[in-house]
Amino acid sequence: MAERKKIQSASQKKNKQVLLIYYSFSGQTGVLINRLAAGLKEQGIEVFFEKLRPVKHLRFPVGSILRTYLMMFATFFRKRVPIRELSAKCSREYDLVILAGPTWSYNPSGPILSFLDRDGKYVLKDRKVLPLISCRGYWKQHWWGLRRKLLQCGAQIANIMAFSHPNPEPWRTIGVFFKIAGRSPERSSFLSKYYTRFGHSNEQMEEAYRFGKEIGQSLESSTPLETINFQTELALP
Ligand SMILES: Cc1cc2nc3c(=O)[nH]c(=O)nc-3n(C[C@H](O)[C@H](O)[C@H](O)COP(=O)(O)O)c2cc1C
Repeated sequence: MAERKKIQSASQKKNKQVLLIYYSFSGQTGVLINRLAAGLKEQGIEVFFEKLRPVKHLRFPVGSILRTYLMMFATFFRKRVPIRELSAKCSREYDLVILAGPTWSYNPSGPILSFLDRDGKYVLKDRKVLPLISCRGYWKQHWWGLRRKLLQCGAQIANIMAFSHPNPEPWRTIGVFFKIAGRSPERSSFLSKYYTRFGHSNEQMEEAYRFGKEIGQSLESSTPLETINFQTELALP
């Protein structure tokens, strides 16, 4: 009987749990966190997703060059994008919260800023938080601003993951701009010579998967996440 109880309690041992809060405008953060989550699950971690949903749907692509300029201008001044209420998932306890989203004009994106303003203290205070940034190439200023805000919310920052698009400059800037506007630079007879793909590469997706596994192992063995090197050649080429 005692043996049975022991087996039962071993099988009832709670898996480590991770909450993944994210926003993705053009799908890049979305693919990275899906691979990251697959790596976490591979290590037996339970993953819960909370997608931030703007009150007014943001259409990608925005549809014109002028609208792209206007969006870049507004986001440079950290314009907030109001988001819907969070689900009840966010009020539970987790072993780790991953907060993921794109860089918008050197800042966190509007939905993430709204989340931090409205819910940051309530969801992140005294919690271990690991941010993930998806960007074209310039993430440091975003990271500094995000770190300041996370600390104001009382979060315990565990480390930072950032992924930048692997295309060389100036083509990635030109390519991303046209892509947001709704053009297809990778199909233009001139640009396609220098810009063949928008966003992150398949190798970077696999790097995200590897990161997920490493985070999972670290949570399972209670080793600090601070010791993981996320700034690899693949993530930040
Ligand atoms: C309005 C806007 C502004 C952006 N500004 C920057 C920037 O300042 N630096 C950068 O590296 N990438 C910038 N980007 C590119 C995105 O960060 C990048 O494409 C990212 O992978 C998009 O992630 P998502 O698909 O999850 O939205 C910007 C994108 C948008 C839509």
